Amino acid sequence: MRRRHLLLGALALPLGLAWWARPRAQGAPYSAEFARRNALLGAHGGGIPRLLLDLDAVDHNIALVRESLARGAGDKQLRLVAKSVPSVELLSYLAEAAGTRRLMVFHQPHLNTLAQAMPDSHMLLGKPLPLAAVEAFYALHRGSFVPERQLEWLVDSPRRLAAYDDWARSQGRPLAVNIEINVGLHRGGVTAGPELAAMLERIAANPRHLRLAGLMGYDPHVVKVPALLGSPDALLAKAMRAYQDVVEQIAQTHPALWREGRGINGDGLTLNTAGSPTYRLHESESLSNDIAVGSAFVHPGDFDLPSLSGHRPAAWIATPVLKAAGPLTLPGLDGASRLLHWWDPNRRASYFVYGGHWLADPVAPAGLRPEPLFGHSTNQDLVVGAPATALAEGDHVFLRPRQSERVLGQFGPLLLSRGGEHVGEWSVLGGSNAPAA
Ligand SMILES: Cc1ncc(COP(=O)(O)O)c(C=O)c1O
Repeated sequence: MRRRHLLLGALALPLGLAWWARPRAQGAPYSAEFARRNALLGAHGGGIPRLLLDLDAVDHNIALVRESLARGAGDKQLRLVAKSVPSVELLSYLAEAAGTRRLMVFHQPHLNTLAQAMPDSHMLLGKPLPLAAVEAFYALHRGSFVPERQLEWLVDSPRRLAAYDDWARSQGRPLAVNIEINVGLHRGGVTAGPELAAMLERIAANPRHLRLAGLMGYDPHVVKVPALLGSPDALLAKAMRAYQDVVEQIAQTHPALWREGRGINGDGLTLNTAGSPTYRLHESESLSNDIAVGSAFVHPGDFDLPSLSGHRPAAWIATPVLKAAGPLTLPGLDGASRLLHWWDPNRRASYFVYGGHWLADPVAPAGLRPEPLFGHSTNQDLVVGAPATALAEGDHVFLRPRQSERVLGQFGPLLLSRGGEHVGEWSVLGGSNAPAA
């Protein structure tokens, strides 16, 4: 008898401590906004995972970008980063609203599609493409878009420039090239010095086939590296010094290649820089004239940065709940799983959803999260939460993409909302050269 009492006493303490330290329930039902979105998905989602685009939030983000460009020093033009907003209709909408025809493109099939769909656009490659992809572009190109005037191929080294040059000569096809400069990201490109000199020599020596159209210096590190390594202002100043050194080398050694102005359609060079994380920082410098922005229009989770304060998330994955399975029961643990949800109320509701394991995080209803003890599934993913999340079969779990690149293209046509109402669908860019089915 005394031994039993002792045992109970010994157990009471850790159990009491565990109960005291248990997580608090964090779940809540849909907010009014997401309840409305859930109803929209119920009516228009077709029972599969969809990508919902909130055009009110997109408009808000466009206004922020426009205001920044208007405030900025010098004459800066906006360039839309196609991979981050990968839809012809979305790109056309942004181009119209923001008053630009400039695109930055990263994928040969996108290049062909956009050259046909937006024939009056001006495109700059955001990465140097293998020669085989350059060849594929020309082989597939149709329509009124004139690559020699409207397309800048990115060259990152003397070696790539030589390969492009040889190809241009063999095809009798002039190429406009943009030199990638390394402004501190160290993802390739050149700095002022002998490599740049060799590239300029080659371009100057072959004006029939090569034309220097601009420079590109991408700088996300300016806001992403730990503060210990430098403030954004200091790192931007350093990046722009590297940019300036390149400009000076061109102006001094090849004045004929250096023409100040607005890039390919004016007489001057495209001086591209930035990206969403840094576009606002460039308000303070007057060297660049071409600012790339894509993700900031839809503001995915990885872009929750101080430099993008005020931007609103505009894209959500919405996926149907297939099974509202009650408290979490783990395979193998079976009935003993009770201990888990006794301890953690955020495991007392479990939902299996249609698809999953996207580059995205659950956001609505609040308090849902993946279950590390069960793992992910791309077929029927599991999210758990507190009972207050109160989802039923056919409701939707909403996830916020961490990045828009890639994720926006994974769900077929974008489902559009404005004022909480369904207002249509937009196609997404395909990943291959195969004609859309
Ligand atoms: C060369 C270059 N410029 C600009 C961007 C910016 O894109 P976003 O505005 O979507 O961040 C990127 C993104 O990868 C890039 O590689």
